[in-house]
Amino acid sequence: ENDLLKKLPLRGKKFLITAGPTYEAIDPVRFIGNHSSGKMGYAIAETAAELGAEVVLISGPSALKLENDFIKIIRVTSAEEMYNAAHEYFNKSDVAILSAAVADYRPADVASEKIKKKTGALTLQLTKTKDILASLGQIKKQQFLVGFALETQNEEENAKLKLKKKNLDLIVLNSLRDEGAGFQVDTNKITFITKDNKVLPFPVKPKKEVAEDILKYIIEQTNA
Ligand code: CTP
Ligand code: CA
Repeated sequence: ENDLLKKLPLRGKKFLITAGPTYEAIDPVRFIGNHSSGKMGYAIAETAAELGAEVVLISGPSALKLENDFIKIIRVTSAEEMYNAAHEYFNKSDVAILSAAVADYRPADVASEKIKKKTGALTLQLTKTKDILASLGQIKKQQFLVGFALETQNEEENAKLKLKKKNLDLIVLNSLRDEGAGFQVDTNKITFITKDNKVLPFPVKPKKEVAEDILKYIIEQTNA
């Protein structure tokens, strides 16, 4: 092969990536959400596409724009919609990277009219959303499945448990503790936990470089 094609190590590979938060409706004007910007997932999508991959990005509400016109973006709002879209594309994928900050709970009932203010407290009944990553882990065949983990205590131990429980090939542990890590910033501090329980820490880096580290590892593992 010529040099030009060698620079596209992910040519012909199908990637499924989730990014951003989900919004869970309370009533027609309110929701439960989180501070995820989508930056990490969008950076992975852009970088994978630059390396030749065919990318489907399933994005929760995010203000970010994609630079690469070849990325297929599917915009969703709720965890339920993200679950359905992910299952639609997973079978055809070679690699799935689930970086979305999916809400763990949603209101049990969505009020059809705007909830009016009354005296006293308001109690919302919440019900669990489906775990998209765990469900893909259960039906996984040849796919290389990557999850993220956000932990504030016993980070490595909890991430290892998640890797096992969700049947993953790699978990990317996100640190909130370090300076330059987290939701709304352009840098991130991560640690890989691999399928064989290796712990590989990285220094604080721009999210673009973190995306490159993740894809480099996937390329190494899937061509091995
Ligand atoms: N995830 C998912 N669907 C959900 C919840 C989480 O696909 N309903 C995925 C996230 O995209 C991430 C991984 O699961 O890749 C771990 O998310 P995290 O919130 O760290 O873990 P949880 O399993 O939700 O457990 P907890 O929040 O209690 O730590
Ligand atoms: Ca969670």
